[in-house]
Amino acid sequence: MASISGNERPDLRDLLAFYAAAGVDDALIDDPIDRFAENAQQRQAASQQQAARSAEAPRAGADRTAAPVQPRPAAVAAVPDEAQAAAARELASKAATLDELKQIMESFEGCNLKATAKSMVFADGNPEADLMLVGEAPGRDEDFEGLPFVGRSGQLLDRILAAIGLDRKSAYIANVIPWRPPGNRAPTPHETEICRPFIERQIALVKPKVLVTLDGPPAKVLTGSPDVILRVRGGWRSHTTADGTVIPVMPTLHPEYLLRNPAHKKLAWRDFLEVKAKLREPGSL
Ligand code: URA
Repeated sequence: MASISGNERPDLRDLLAFYAAAGVDDALIDDPIDRFAENAQQRQAASQQQAARSAEAPRAGADRTAAPVQPRPAAVAAVPDEAQAAAARELASKAATLDELKQIMESFEGCNLKATAKSMVFADGNPEADLMLVGEAPGRDEDFEGLPFVGRSGQLLDRILAAIGLDRKSAYIANVIPWRPPGNRAPTPHETEICRPFIERQIALVKPKVLVTLDGPPAKVLTGSPDVILRVRGGWRSHTTADGTVIPVMPTLHPEYLLRNPAHKKLAWRDFLEVKAKLREPGSL
């Protein structure tokens, strides 16, 4: 890559490479926003306010307690904290249907990831299905289309489902986090805690007969098992919903991992054969 020094202008490719390395790999709107101009305007507005306040400042000896308190500007994105997670828990518990849950999540402003995502990825498939699959968070393609597992890994997932006689009309797919983390970075523990009530409520409303978690993080969130997927995969765990329903969970490998490690596809195949057998067991719900 060419270096940027002196009067040299960065090559457009260098600039794009810089953006990509910083996690900016998608254009969300067509027209660029000049953040430098925005900043300058904000600074100017702030100094005008300051000047106005100084002009109104009480004379020496006057009652200083009466000085008006200036409201702080509203925060643009929520800083993830326990209050946001508590709000998410409260809101999610109120959803009586999947549609209500989706609406609640769409108007929820407590997760900072929403500010950078293009869409909210709620779910795909059949909410009446016996099998529900849960991934960690949408990637670039999913963010673009607003549906889970539609990229390369989603295509592999479709082939895996077909191998056990299922498809998106007979399975239901969602993610722990419904908004794409910028640049596909791992969600922070706070972001996960904020989104956890939403996926838990979604599971409680779908009430699948069997859950499959794709990769370690969703297994950890839904079963409390340690985050080392190669150790936990293939063994049945369980998830207990708020109303006490116990759902068997099969942790397995993420399709993206299988694309990079095709020799491990046989492990996933074993896991899905287990899932197929469990789905055939008479009335476990
Ligand atoms: N990976 C995930 O965990 N979820 C998706 O929706 C896509 C890729």
